[in-house]
Amino acid sequence: MTRTPDFLTPARLGRLALPNHLVMAPLTRNRAEADGTPTPLMATHYAQRASAGLIIAEGSTPNPVGQTYPDITAIHSDRHTAGWRQVTEAVGAAGGRMFLQLQHGGRVSHPATTGLTPVAPSPVPLPETIFTPDGHRPAAVPREMTEDDIRATIAEFAAAARRAVDAGFEGVEVHSANGMLLHQFLAANTNRRTDAYGGSVERRVRFAAEVTEAVADAIGAERVGIRISPGSTVNGVLEDDTDGLYAALVARLKGLDLAYLHLVRSAPEAGWYRRIRADWPGTLIGNPDLTDLTTETVTRESARMLAAGADLVALGRPFLANPDLLTRLRLGAPLNPVRERYLMYVGGADGYNDYPTLVDQPSSDSMVALDGARVA
Ligand SMILES: Cc1cc2nc3c(=O)[nH]c(=O)nc-3n(C[C@H](O)[C@H](O)[C@H](O)COP(=O)(O)O)c2cc1C
Repeated sequence: MTRTPDFLTPARLGRLALPNHLVMAPLTRNRAEADGTPTPLMATHYAQRASAGLIIAEGSTPNPVGQTYPDITAIHSDRHTAGWRQVTEAVGAAGGRMFLQLQHGGRVSHPATTGLTPVAPSPVPLPETIFTPDGHRPAAVPREMTEDDIRATIAEFAAAARRAVDAGFEGVEVHSANGMLLHQFLAANTNRRTDAYGGSVERRVRFAAEVTEAVADAIGAERVGIRISPGSTVNGVLEDDTDGLYAALVARLKGLDLAYLHLVRSAPEAGWYRRIRADWPGTLIGNPDLTDLTTETVTRESARMLAAGADLVALGRPFLANPDLLTRLRLGAPLNPVRERYLMYVGGADGYNDYPTLVDQPSSDSMVALDGARVA
């Protein structure tokens, strides 16, 4: 008899009991209303995936200028809070639990989307075009944040975290990865400041640390995680000294007793991964670097992530394309491939809520596996 892989067994995240070790990674899908309010379509989408140990909902902006793209979600008005509440209630009714990712895009934004000049640590534009309601446009030069802007933004993150808890989330994830605003402060090429928020690695980590501390003060550290992507050049960031930078960030954060530290695309053999695992005393979520999205690869890489000391495993595209991912992995059944890439970021149910479960695919090999499991 084959042993149940460890990632399918129950886990804990602080005070939360999780039915398994798999976390749905945050996935921006541009299905909100124009003002950022979550839609009933989104409630259905997340409820379909409620069997995840934990769902981390997509990046949601804590203020208007932090909006990255059209139709992404927000969490800075009563309407947003009410919209998110219908999502958390649907997921709760289906037996799931959710955190919400708080994401400020910084220079990954455009006046054609927000009506505002983007803000960033320094006036260094994104070195690529950006998607807006008018199609792809050249990036705008962001305005350098003043110390008042910094203080106000930190307060907006804290207020957004309070709203998230009001909306029924178990907690929030501070997005300090993938070239978004907090990562722009971390990276040397986007942070050219000469004040207390720029220069040495200790100064460059200060903004991310202060945002996280303020959010933890607002809702309790056990409800707060942070996501980082050491070495990533997504959205044009170049960190310069990845090891020193994250050593400084971990040193600032490790006394806070946060819910978790979440590493994007973490290869267990990477030197930075091993150093961070050794330095971080709390829960670590690893997001494996998947080369393909087959059952075999997802199973192998998830097991390898736990063997390398991660406490939980975050998966993005496997959950995107497989509402019943847990069942499929348990049975060793094939996974749905991700459909047309462009459907990831457009509105509507197409390519969003219409991914079939095994039960919807009665003629496939998957059903054989499902029947086998029922008989067994
Ligand atoms: C459609 C899509 C949207 C994403 N949106 C976010 C996001 O909002 N926040 C974030 O931190 N990462 C985001 N990511 C990155 C994923 O969370 C994840 O790190 C990445 O897809 C690698 O994991 P995977 O191979 O399991 O998909 C997104 C990725 C995809 C494919």
